[in-house]
Amino acid sequence: MSRSGVGSARARARSNIALVKYWGKRNDELVLPHTGSLSLTLDALITTTEVTFTGEAGADVFELDGSPAEEKERVRVSQLLDLVRAEAKASGLPNPGAARVQSSNNFPTAGGLASSASGFAALAAAGAWAAGLDPSSDALSIIARRGSGSACRSVEGGFVEWVRGERDDGLDSVARQVLPADAWSVGMAVAIVDAGRKDRSSRDAMKDSVDTSPFYEAWVRTTTQDVENARAAVLSRDLERLGTIAEHSFLRMHAAAMAAEPPAIFWQPPTLALIAEVRALRADGIGAWATVDAGPHVAVLCEQKDFEVIRVRLAAVPGVRDVMVARPGPGVERA
Ligand code: PMV
Repeated sequence: MSRSGVGSARARARSNIALVKYWGKRNDELVLPHTGSLSLTLDALITTTEVTFTGEAGADVFELDGSPAEEKERVRVSQLLDLVRAEAKASGLPNPGAARVQSSNNFPTAGGLASSASGFAALAAAGAWAAGLDPSSDALSIIARRGSGSACRSVEGGFVEWVRGERDDGLDSVARQVLPADAWSVGMAVAIVDAGRKDRSSRDAMKDSVDTSPFYEAWVRTTTQDVENARAAVLSRDLERLGTIAEHSFLRMHAAAMAAEPPAIFWQPPTLALIAEVRALRADGIGAWATVDAGPHVAVLCEQKDFEVIRVRLAAVPGVRDVMVARPGPGVERA
């Protein structure tokens, strides 16, 4: 704190990619999921965010990679900081006032890779610390969750489970580490596909799936079991079992989304070609399993020793712009 009511803090968080997907909320406002999910936090995709509270009334300012962010994004940032301000008030801390937020990604946001997970995890931490709060990891994941569901998992490093929780107030819907980052030498190769802007946000598409997909009930039932099995696979370091569950999970998520009204089709032709290439890798005896989020890119779970051969094979698929490899990374930290 540089003076009463004014504080500044900087946090660094990494993105995560789910192996058992989160797809659908039971409470839109609190961002409470219908099911648990399980992800890997990646070392290579980093957001660094600085929050400076002015101690004065006014609108929050949000700069992304050095330029003013779109108004829509600024409002989402402000809404998350409102939670931090409310928390500060409840804790008897001075009113932090309006904030200046500066955020940067070490990967191109325009590339279409999910930056919301690392972004909201870093924002929640920097905001809370700048306001003078000292939240537990559970409390931080609850704040980050409100910005973007998947962000709660980036609060922790390594393999992370977002526990569904049972409470209506969401206080038990938190991210918990299953296995630390350095405990297992696996990782992901992420194939970035040439594609325009996606036409549907994951937020809208998952709501349509909940409301209209005839497969949504089956999604909830199978995912609940998948989380149990994936956690056991991580704890026993059984990559084949984990990879098999991960492929079921993303295919069922997309099946539910495609069956919704209106349908959400996130795949581009290279997406399917990459899925086929991952199967071909397995046929050649290389342990590789695909997963696809609400976009066209394909992440491939594998052992670190196979990174190079997998990177070369994925990069040769037509329509692939870039392949990056990432190891398990740490949770949110001071920067
Ligand atoms: O956190 P959101 O609202 O961007 O939703 C993320 C949804 C998926 O990335 C498709 C799945 C997941 O669990 O991350």
